[in-house]
Amino acid sequence: MEKEKKIVLSGIRATGNLHLGNYFGALQKFVKMQNDYDCRYFVADLHALTTHPDPTKLHENVKDILAEYLAAGLDPEKNIIYVQSDIPEISEMYLLMNMHVGIGELMRTASFKDKARKALGIHSDSDEIEKEIIGNQTNQRVNAGLLTYPTLMAVDILIHHADFVPVGKDQEQHLELTRRFARRFNSFYKTEYFGEPVNFNFGDHAIKVPGLDGSGKMGKSEGNCIYLIDDEKTLRKKVMRAVTDEGPKEPNSPVSEPVNNLFTLMELVSEPDVVKHYRDAYADCSIRYGDLKKQLAEDILKVTLPIRERILDIRNNDEYLSRVVREGAERTREYAARTLADVREIMGIKKF
Ligand code: ADP
Ligand code: TRP
Repeated sequence: MEKEKKIVLSGIRATGNLHLGNYFGALQKFVKMQNDYDCRYFVADLHALTTHPDPTKLHENVKDILAEYLAAGLDPEKNIIYVQSDIPEISEMYLLMNMHVGIGELMRTASFKDKARKALGIHSDSDEIEKEIIGNQTNQRVNAGLLTYPTLMAVDILIHHADFVPVGKDQEQHLELTRRFARRFNSFYKTEYFGEPVNFNFGDHAIKVPGLDGSGKMGKSEGNCIYLIDDEKTLRKKVMRAVTDEGPKEPNSPVSEPVNNLFTLMELVSEPDVVKHYRDAYADCSIRYGDLKKQLAEDILKVTLPIRERILDIRNNDEYLSRVVREGAERTREYAARTLADVREIMGIKKF
């Protein structure tokens, strides 16, 4: 008997074009997994509403992500590709799952604290966040959707009974919460209904792609991104402007964070002997950062330019995009309806 394939589920929020962090942290894994697993990938437009509620942009953002999925090599014949809001079962199950999620654990989630802090303009610790949120009744800058973001994400995953969830390192806490909610549901209702999904990596750990500004990760809100859609000139300019330092003064000096970030990027896009060449040059102080950056830009372009061309091809083909997501929604709704019916029954919701 043929062994059933493991189920893979992942998604990206519709908040703007995809960058190298999204590509290496998530999308490239999606593509690599499509031949060996039962893969389902979606565009998280409801999640986008927690921070980016803009009715004039949302639909265009959804189309951007879809086109970028397809251009990066996701094959709609091999995967189910859909839009989150096309699946009403997800919203209903989100409501049900929220009955088993504590406000305290949600408020302690790192991504919530981060986003709440930004929305409130607070720089320090969480006590102040709580005081500000609870103390000010008219303060709507931190909405309940943002707080319950992990519930919705858990439902995205559990509604498929997914085994693997390929995401970047920053999403691991959300996955941990998903497992916790699944265990809690099981133990409350004395069932073994939900499994415990895990991240998936081809190496031994989740990737964090750094930005070009010297610290932290590449991220849409940090303004330090190289986008898959960037043209050649823009991309070269961004790489040549990347932050470095004054260069090593003596052999085998430790590598500063900004320069290490460039090496990290290089390890993702360049051949191993190229990386070694520049690492050796750093160690013996002969390195010229200008050369390193030129090489890096060249090697990034080899990855992104073919994708960019396909994005430009697909992005305005509305008929193709809508065919893909219509089929994807139909198939997803079958799975989702089954899970939702089970969950309602387990929770004691009965029809007259
Ligand atoms: P952003 O942080 O730019 O808003 P998202 O939060 O929408 O990006 O992330 C979508 C996916 O891309 C997630 O799986 C996330 O883990 C991954 N990702 C985002 N930025 C990076 C990064 N710099 N390195 C690795 N993975 C990343
Ligand atoms: N939170 C994820 C992000 O910011 C997006 C996401 C929503 C997701 N639901 C998911 C990822 C389910 C994997 C599985 O990138």
